[in-house]
Amino acid sequence: MKKSLTAYVNGHFLPLDDATVHIEDRGFQFADGVYEVIACLGGNFLDLKPHLERLEHSCRAIRIELPCHLNELESLVQQSYEKNPFSNAMIYIQVTRGVAPRSHHVSESMNPSLIITVRELPIPSREQLSDGASAITLNDFRWGRCDIKSIALLASVMGKQEAAANGVDESFWLDQEGHLLEGCATNVFALIDGKLVTHPLSHHILGGITRKMVIRVAVKAGISVDERPWKLNEAGLTECMMSSTTNALLPVCKIDKLPVGSGSPGPVAKQLRALMIDELEALRSA
Ligand code: PDD
Repeated sequence: MKKSLTAYVNGHFLPLDDATVHIEDRGFQFADGVYEVIACLGGNFLDLKPHLERLEHSCRAIRIELPCHLNELESLVQQSYEKNPFSNAMIYIQVTRGVAPRSHHVSESMNPSLIITVRELPIPSREQLSDGASAITLNDFRWGRCDIKSIALLASVMGKQEAAANGVDESFWLDQEGHLLEGCATNVFALIDGKLVTHPLSHHILGGITRKMVIRVAVKAGISVDERPWKLNEAGLTECMMSSTTNALLPVCKIDKLPVGSGSPGPVAKQLRALMIDELEALRSA
C-alpha cells in the first residue's frame, strides 16, 4: 500500500490532509514569510547547510527569528524526509511571522510558524533533455529584493502562467536595459565566446544554491566564468542554460520562439549537466 504523506507544522508531524495553519497566519494574509526547497537523493541532502543558511539570511532580512536552532531544523528536515515515501525528494520549508489579528503593523511578540512538506523530486522530461527547454522573456515586474526567498510568489506564478500560455517551460526576467536576470524559479546562464556568463549576485536575483554549484563545476572543468549582466543578442552567444534545485541544469534551446545557437543542447550545457549528475549520483550512492 502507498505510504501517506506527512507534514510538519509547528511542533507536530501530521498526515498531510490534517496539517493546517490558522487563517490569520501572516503567511496567508500578507505573504509575510520565506521558504527553501532542498533536494534529497537516496537519503543524502544536496547542499543542506547552504540552503539553511540562505533561509537564515531570508529570515534576518525580514526580521523574523527562526523558530528553532539550525541543528534542530536540520533534524526536522531529516525526520520529514524519513516520514515520507520518496527516495529522491524535495523538501519544502516555510517560515512565516506567525498568527496575529490582521494588521500591517508588525507586533514584536510573534511566534513564527514553521512548516515542512516533502514531495517527490521531479525529473526533467525526455524532450527537455533531448531537445532542451524553452523560455520566453518578460520585463521584470517583481520587487527589488529578489535575493530574499519570499513566499510572495505572485509575479513568478504570473510568469509561469505566461510561459504555459506560450507553450514554453520558463519565463526569464529582463531588467530595464534588457539584461537577463533569472527565471521565475531558475537562474540563467549563457555561453558567450566560450565563457559561462551569468548575472552577478544582487538584490535583483536569488543567489541560487545550484547556480553556485554550476559555477564550481564549470571552473573545475576549466571553463571560465564571468558574472556580469548579459543580453540575448550578444555576438558570440552559442548556448543558454538554467539551473535550480529541482532541475539541476537544463539546456535552454529556444527563447522567444527563436533558436539559441544551433537550436539543440550545446556541448557545454551537456558537459556541465553530466558533471553535475555524476556528483549527484555519487551523493545518492554515498
Ligand atoms: N526556486 N531564482 C528563483 C527566483 C528561484 O525561485 C529559484 C529556485 C532559483 C534557483 O535557486 P536554487 O538553485 O537555490 O534552487 C533561482 C525553487 C526551486 C522553487 O521556488 O521551487
